[in-house]
Amino acid sequence: MLKEKFLEIFGGEEEGLRVFRAPGRVNLIGEHTDYNGGYVFPAALTKASTVVLRKRLDCFVHIRATDLAEEAVIDLSRIENFKDLPYGNYQAGVMDEMHKAGYALFGMDMLFEDTVPHGSGLSSSAAIEVVTALAVYTLSREAGIGKEASMADLAKIAQRAENQYIGVNCGIMDQFASAMGKKDMALLLNCKTLEYELVPAVMEGYCLVLSNTKKKHTLGASKYNERRQECDNAFAALSEVLPGKTCLGDISPEEFEANKQAITNETEQKRAAHVIYEDARVLAAVEALKKNDLVTFGQLLNASHDSLRDLYEVTGEELDTMVEEARKIEGVLGSRMTGAGFGGSTVSVVRTDMVDRFQKTVGENYTKRTGLVPEFYISEIGNGAEAVPFQAQ
Ligand code: GLA
Repeated sequence: MLKEKFLEIFGGEEEGLRVFRAPGRVNLIGEHTDYNGGYVFPAALTKASTVVLRKRLDCFVHIRATDLAEEAVIDLSRIENFKDLPYGNYQAGVMDEMHKAGYALFGMDMLFEDTVPHGSGLSSSAAIEVVTALAVYTLSREAGIGKEASMADLAKIAQRAENQYIGVNCGIMDQFASAMGKKDMALLLNCKTLEYELVPAVMEGYCLVLSNTKKKHTLGASKYNERRQECDNAFAALSEVLPGKTCLGDISPEEFEANKQAITNETEQKRAAHVIYEDARVLAAVEALKKNDLVTFGQLLNASHDSLRDLYEVTGEELDTMVEEARKIEGVLGSRMTGAGFGGSTVSVVRTDMVDRFQKTVGENYTKRTGLVPEFYISEIGNGAEAVPFQAQ
């Protein structure tokens, strides 16, 4: 279908068309720990960014998306100049970084279909970045240019694009999950070493419900960078009394309690407390899930949200309301915000027979309290980025 649409827009024949896809993600637990060298526990979604593309003979990239009317045009000879595009800036950023990493850029016509809702906190941007990195990598390698890279290497390049080109100092979680996810598995990722373990995340009798607050995280970028700075300051203070530590992720709750007075700024002390205890919660949650102890798993999700609300202060009225309403429903084991916060989505562990009631009741109550109409998705865990074979279309 997407190919037909491509041909309608750009003309020509099917021959030479290429298709790639990369998913969004849900983070189950471990929020704002990645850029502190801590643990995260995300899973790739089946919602994804899919691109059909064809090489052009000039040095222009024409980008269309199925949900947008306008076309973005990027001139590869001045790739650094497209940071302000409302759509296409993520693609341009990745192309810029891929070029700097030694890969060839080609003119292309591209049609994107993004089924990860924009601004939902489910990493629609990482999906676009990773799919673009994979596409550029594949074409460049076919032309014999650039060195062999793993999907994890491509995730790092995609993250760099977001840091350098977009100006959000994000960690590695979203791009890594999008690149490396596996069907029905969550990834326990050590963000300091990038070692990871795949953990089965299908929960007998329960499912993961994502609730999109529909509150866009517009102030997200500046607040996000501010939190990151606060963590860096907290770590600088702690490392004076805890020499040899390289990041907050290296510090245990016990070490923190014994040394926290070194952080004289109260806000920064709260931020560090969140990160250090959240990191411990991730490992406890993974253990609980492995033992199929979903009650404990759910309680840890709740504790994570409460800490993001009280100590890290990134939730806000909409996310808190959604979580409060979710926790009132029978059969809900846990509910928390997922992603950066300041809007976006929550994730809840809901007993399968209560899912309809959950959507109806939480939806009605949330709208009553906020005036916003939420969206719900039953989360299916899918594979990471891949080239889509021609026949499968
Ligand atoms: C965003 C960032 C991630 C991570 C989360 C918070 O999704 O892109 O790197 O920091 O926020 O956990």
